[in-house]
Amino acid sequence: MTLRRTLLATAALAACALIAGPAAAQSAPKLKVGLMLPYTGTYAALGNAIENGFRLYVSEQGGKLGGREVEFFKVDDESDPAKATDNVNKLVKRDQVDVLVGTVHSGVAMAMAKVAKETNTLLVVPNAGADAVTGPLCGPNIVRSSFSNWQPGYAMGEVVAKKGHKKVVTITWKYAAGDESVKGFKEAFEKSGGQVVKDLSLPFPNVEFQALLTEIAATKPDAVFTFFAGAGAVKFVKDYAAAGLKKNIPLYGSGFLTDGTLEAQGADADGILTALHYGDSLNTPRDNAFRLAYAKTYKLQPDVYAVQGYDAGQILGTGLAAVKGDVSKKAEFAAAVQKAKIDSPRGPFTISKAGNPVQDFYLRQVSGKENKVIGVASKALADPARGCKAS
Ligand code: BEZ
Repeated sequence: MTLRRTLLATAALAACALIAGPAAAQSAPKLKVGLMLPYTGTYAALGNAIENGFRLYVSEQGGKLGGREVEFFKVDDESDPAKATDNVNKLVKRDQVDVLVGTVHSGVAMAMAKVAKETNTLLVVPNAGADAVTGPLCGPNIVRSSFSNWQPGYAMGEVVAKKGHKKVVTITWKYAAGDESVKGFKEAFEKSGGQVVKDLSLPFPNVEFQALLTEIAATKPDAVFTFFAGAGAVKFVKDYAAAGLKKNIPLYGSGFLTDGTLEAQGADADGILTALHYGDSLNTPRDNAFRLAYAKTYKLQPDVYAVQGYDAGQILGTGLAAVKGDVSKKAEFAAAVQKAKIDSPRGPFTISKAGNPVQDFYLRQVSGKENKVIGVASKALADPARGCKAS
């Protein structure tokens, strides 16, 4: 937010209080929330699930956060980093939103974080794991409800090493999410004596996997680690099985490989092990209540993206309650969020000084249409927040 807009918003809140006296809370200006998410392309389903989760939380709060009625503004970012700065400016400059909520794609999120920093706008990231968002770009106005790319990769590196595999090939999309997931995996796997013998990649959102699958077959590793998500993950899992690799070379991934995708992947996903901060069989009262409310509202089963959207609402609500809806109080907002325990369907978690969740990573195995939780891969895993001055 520019200084002028900050002053205007603060003056508007103060004027309401002066004029209306005890009725001030009722006449507080609406909270303008800018949703910047993918509604088309490979990650469209992820964007929709995040919006559903966020709206569910807001509606459970009677349509208000921090005492202010929520008004939504939306932009389809198409998961296209080249359009990201223009898209985020539509929300910040044209619509003058108080808060940005977005997005899914790490490259797009980095552009959002840069604009949020320059304009001092509050930003809640409900998926994109770009390490830089809670690394060098961290700040009191930026918080994430999801994960850093390093986290599930690192958790899975420990699991694959414990399974006794020695030589692994990695395969992913060539952009921050893929590169950083693989980096996290390597850090844990190689620390335990494993070796990544080949890194394979293709540009996002390309799904022509055939040549790379042939290379995996020729390399004959003990196992494969991968990051793919959304529609690309569906095609990868199906192609891996169709190439005859599934029988001989176990496939591991960060959990996005099989989350929100199992209907489409069918039996080709059966048995795949992944690590993620959510699963389908937690069976806790908190998760059961969330799943029931989500299913009733949307006639759909929730996935990790829906949970992250819901928790973006919870984090925003927690911070805004502490500052009574005054979005100009960034330091107080951040302090409140970092003191809180977020009562998430995934299980309770805290937020680090860098603004990233400190949370358990579950080991999940696909069984039928579920990512069944079969253990905890990493307990209370915190991102190292490299480059964040606040941590
Ligand atoms: C990312 O780009 O950060 C991302 C996209 C989909 C799932 C997980 C991470």
